[in-house]
Amino acid sequence: MRSSIIIVATLAAFACSRPQPSAFTVSSPDGGLTVQFWLSPSGQAHYSATYGSKIAVDTSGMGFTFQNAPPLAEGLEVVEAKETTFDETWEMTWGEQRQVRNHYRELNVALREKEAPGRRFNVVFRVFDDGLGFRYAFPAQEGVDSLVFLSEDTEFTLGGDHTAWWQPGDWDIYEHIYSRNRVSEIDAIAKRNHPNLAQTYIPENAVNTPVTLRSDDGLYLCFHEAALYNYPSMTLRVDGPAHRFTSALAGRADGVKATVALPFNTPWRTVQVADRAGDLIESRLILNLNEPNQLKDVSWIRPMKYAGIWWEMHLDKSTWAMEGGRHGATTENAKAYIDFCAENNIQGLLVEGWNTGWERWIGFEDREGVFDFVTPYPDYDLTEVARYAQEKNVALIMHHETSSAVRTYDAQLDTAYALCEQLGIHAVKTGYVGKIIPGTEYHQGQWMVNHFQRVVETAARHKVMVDAHETIKDTGIRRTWPNFMSRETVRGQEFNAWSMEGGNPTDHPIMLAFTQMLAGPIDYTPGIVNLTLKPYKPNNRVKHTLAYELALYVVIYSPVQMAADLPEHYAGHPAMPFIREVVTDWEQTRVIDGEPGDFVAIARQERGGERWFLGAIANEAGKEMSVKLDFLPAGKRYELILYADGPEAHWDTNPTDMTVTRQEVAAGQTLNLRLAPGGGAAAVLKPL
Ligand code: NOJ
Ligand code: CA
Repeated sequence: MRSSIIIVATLAAFACSRPQPSAFTVSSPDGGLTVQFWLSPSGQAHYSATYGSKIAVDTSGMGFTFQNAPPLAEGLEVVEAKETTFDETWEMTWGEQRQVRNHYRELNVALREKEAPGRRFNVVFRVFDDGLGFRYAFPAQEGVDSLVFLSEDTEFTLGGDHTAWWQPGDWDIYEHIYSRNRVSEIDAIAKRNHPNLAQTYIPENAVNTPVTLRSDDGLYLCFHEAALYNYPSMTLRVDGPAHRFTSALAGRADGVKATVALPFNTPWRTVQVADRAGDLIESRLILNLNEPNQLKDVSWIRPMKYAGIWWEMHLDKSTWAMEGGRHGATTENAKAYIDFCAENNIQGLLVEGWNTGWERWIGFEDREGVFDFVTPYPDYDLTEVARYAQEKNVALIMHHETSSAVRTYDAQLDTAYALCEQLGIHAVKTGYVGKIIPGTEYHQGQWMVNHFQRVVETAARHKVMVDAHETIKDTGIRRTWPNFMSRETVRGQEFNAWSMEGGNPTDHPIMLAFTQMLAGPIDYTPGIVNLTLKPYKPNNRVKHTLAYELALYVVIYSPVQMAADLPEHYAGHPAMPFIREVVTDWEQTRVIDGEPGDFVAIARQERGGERWFLGAIANEAGKEMSVKLDFLPAGKRYELILYADGPEAHWDTNPTDMTVTRQEVAAGQTLNLRLAPGGGAAAVLKPL
């Protein structure tokens, strides 16, 4: 690891003597991105950013309002400004690549109110070649022990009426469809009252982050945040005519957004920039703005593919609850799935519906004290299933559906995770369906951010990995807590089984790749090969081709990746060799090409091995593309096994038409792909 910190300049002396407004400038290591910071004549902090000759962020203000204290916005003076450089290369415990370079210039500006109460805070900018982050740091200071935030008013003014790929700013759930339109046309309010969402609260015209944008002069931008702890999630309020976003923190019923003790650092507000959309996916800025791994022993953390007693409940072939005689999680069924995993290079098995309480979860108001995270149903012998899984070398994944009765779960955390440890279970999938109890809180608020953190830390103490559904959005904390593997803070595969619109739009995963995936891994749960869902759900379906579905394993990154369909659907299926072979941990990642919502092609090299995997997917327009195999090492020959759309393939009329072909290829060669409407291609390249 290489690390250097150089104090380049201390501007304190002349900053104060300089007439206001005085501007401070800091540029990325390669000089491409420049941030300006200054105080307006009224003493309000402002910043802007340029990327080459283009505007990344136009003049934008900052400020806060508090309960029982005056706002903190105007009347500021600069006490000191310091610029430093940092450069290190660190290794991801698991991830999209092994080595990550963390190279930035930092500008740390200390500010103080000129008049009483004379409060102090710092604005800290980190400027990388691929974007910037800034946070507010409130030092310990006399007279201010704590802050009760009513708002954070950070602005992100755009250089124009950009095209946005966005979902509504929901304080509860991220399970929305993405839209594409100009910033001035964003209407989040129209997305209220979605029939399938058990929890949703969209208080104003705002967007969730990450939100991705393209300027008319071809600059791609993504706004998000990094290292969210003890503070609410940030949505972005839309001011269409001004082409401006302003931070709008998720709150709670009484209007308070956050209560913190000093010293306190807010999360980083992030702006990723790129000339090519694919470079946003290759950016590791969010991770670089998080602290290094806190866990000493990571030997129990293992990326994996997993199957589940799961899809059969979503198809309504079986049930989560035991009553009714169609229980999915029986000892016998679990053992059959374990055998299936062991035979097909699938390292884990999720079992949902194993514990008591499923009679009273979704649709019930009073869900406190219902779910029990240590007591199996009588037809599920947990100890025996755990023993059998160990014998077959399959990792059992526990399931904790909390039904958002958060206090009930909190009360059982230690015993529930101790049980996992005792049984040698190193993975838990959590879930938060329904409105948070108590009803004064929301999934994305400070109270829940702290709950989710408690869960991850408790899990770590018991050597358990977490895959969380309906959770807080990812802000890169997996760098610090590498047991937080994946999340379904998106509208996942499950919607294809039962959503009233009949399934996720064809372009949905292509939207995800350029939006939510910039935040971190997504547990989309790919692997459905019976795309029409017959005979179980004749009115629902998966709206893309089989080759597209296979490509999801490569395109949508997650260190835990599901083989979601029923074992009987995989028997003898032509897609199965790919599902068996594909890995979930990578040495390096290359985004070959793509445009949000239209198409994307990604190549990834397996961690610690020489195979490469390729995934490409297209929306209903289809796509012809040539893939230069320049990611392969020169002089080596590879066998390429290509799972491609067949000549008749079409997401609607013929989703399963797929050809599997083999050819010899080498670096520098070009592979021509024809992606059908709603189609895709998946490939493995093995050294010969
Ligand atoms: C919603 C989750 O996303 C899904 O995967 C799970 O099966 C159900 N909740 C039940 O917990
Ligand atoms: Ca879900």
